[in-house]
Amino acid sequence: MATILALETSCDETAVAILRDGELVASEVASQVAAHEKYGGVVPEVASRNHLVHAPRLLEHALDRAKIDIDQVDAFAATSGPGLASSLMIGASIAKGLAIARGKPYLAINHLEGHLLSPFFGEANIRPNVSLIVSGGHTMSIFVRAVGDYEIVGRTVDDAAGEAFDKVAKLLGLNYPGGPEIEKRARAGDAKRFDLPRSMPDSTNFSFSGLKTSVRYLLPKLRGNYLADVCASFQQAVIDVLVQKTLAAARKYDVDLVTISGGVSCNEAFRQQMARACAKDRRELKTAPPSLCTDNAAMIAFAAALQFAKGSASSVQEEIDPNLALA
Ligand code: KG4
Ligand code: ZN
Repeated sequence: MATILALETSCDETAVAILRDGELVASEVASQVAAHEKYGGVVPEVASRNHLVHAPRLLEHALDRAKIDIDQVDAFAATSGPGLASSLMIGASIAKGLAIARGKPYLAINHLEGHLLSPFFGEANIRPNVSLIVSGGHTMSIFVRAVGDYEIVGRTVDDAAGEAFDKVAKLLGLNYPGGPEIEKRARAGDAKRFDLPRSMPDSTNFSFSGLKTSVRYLLPKLRGNYLADVCASFQQAVIDVLVQKTLAAARKYDVDLVTISGGVSCNEAFRQQMARACAKDRRELKTAPPSLCTDNAAMIAFAAALQFAKGSASSVQEEIDPNLALA
């Protein structure tokens, strides 16, 4: 067992977490939503400047909260990709600097591995599973044989599922991030009112840009009260595709476990429909708590702890990689 300090700065959340002997003793996240809202999306320059402001402060808070001294940290970890280069650089540079200064190992962690392991948070045994990562930047299904042994089953050919939520929310005049805004309104809506496309049903890959375009063409034709019904119909179209393709992958790879992670897996309607589909198929569904679904450093610390336990460490010469692949 060990004490791991991890930083996550791959996009627009600055996060620091400390994991001590498998227990999460600090997890700090500073959202930059307000800083990017006026631009309608994440501005890399603004994100990296904000990481520089927030990271040292969060680091101090995390150590205070964990009631430990930095000398008690056994390894320093950071997300090294995929993500925005100028954002990744901040967290990785801080972790490397601390590792060098304290003479401790540095662990470079793949952001996607952080997400896909998050449903197992705190567990030592990672069973084979089909994992669906659904976030603002990624939509990917993966056959997980073991930690570090991954096979990509399918990925989006255009927008990520979360990106589709964000873009449709924007079309509807809702705030960023769009997922929670759409979910809230969908609760009162009729998901059957609008027949929106479920793209590429026979492929293992995903596509959401056609769905977004369908909403764009639908909106000018509507009058009266339609917001809740559009939200519900859109959300249902995304969920149907995610559930159908994930279950198809679970059957293909013959695994009895399905896991979901990433920001979109906060969506309660999605969780429920996936849980029903898995139960019907006699497969177990594992989800992470919502605080571990959106970007956070606890999942990075957990992935790092698994690596550290195996005795592996990264070189401080290892560069960040905005396009870092999972497999
Ligand atoms: O994992 P995450 O924080 O960041 C990335 O790595 O991209 O995911 C953020 C994404 C956003 O697109 C947001 O709209 C979506 O997750 N999201 C949701 C919900 N909560 C967050 N989408 C649907 N329903 C939600 N409740
Ligand atoms: Zn993420």
